[in-house]
Amino acid sequence: MLKKLILLFVLISVISCKSELSKKDEALFIAKGNEITQASFKELSSNLMAQMKLGGPAQAVPFCNVQAMPITSKMAEKYNVTIKRTSNKVRNSKNNASERELEIISKYQSLLNQGEELSPIVEINNSNQKHYFAPIQLNSKCLSCHGKLEEQLSVKTDSLIKSLYPNDKAIGYNDGDLRGIWSIVFKN
Ligand code: HEC
Repeated sequence: MLKKLILLFVLISVISCKSELSKKDEALFIAKGNEITQASFKELSSNLMAQMKLGGPAQAVPFCNVQAMPITSKMAEKYNVTIKRTSNKVRNSKNNASERELEIISKYQSLLNQGEELSPIVEINNSNQKHYFAPIQLNSKCLSCHGKLEEQLSVKTDSLIKSLYPNDKAIGYNDGDLRGIWSIVFKN
């Protein structure tokens, strides 16, 4: 009987095949993920803010349109990972969220609603790779392009955004709102 039970247990663990993340690896990949998101955020926002200074949203929106993806790809290559910024309300449909990403976003949203601190998550995905997620929250500087129409977001900027992204859903936010997540997969 015991032998049969042990065999069953082994079978189940082989079939379910999901390797567990050790505490040590979890901490390691959270630290790596944090480093990558901080560097990418710095790269994106310093470029964006320079464009905003040069010519406001009229200059910065087209810049984001052309440069946001190449900037993250460059960082991805540097760190040998894939980097995605995604949301439940995307501006660029190329940033659409997967089912798992949507689950993570709604988990963060309910934590935020309860007034909890949001922290990064690392898990093993179906391809047995380490997958890092971290929240992206808005600050006041983001609202000229993601805020409320006719409040922080002018009609002029909104029309410019809509001309580039006809399906834009990424407006109407307040300072501190959850905008989306970083989703980083470490290549094996
Ligand atoms: C000058 C206007 C502008 C400002 C300011 C701005 N964004 Fe955006 N944002 C954009 C544009 C344009 C895109 C689409 C980029 C692309 O094509 O990948 C975008 C895309 C994003 C995305 C990717 C997901 C999606 O919806 O496609 C996130 C996340 C995001 N912005 C967060 C922020 C945060 C956080 C801030 C403030 C720190 C911010 N943005 C400030 C214009 C702006």
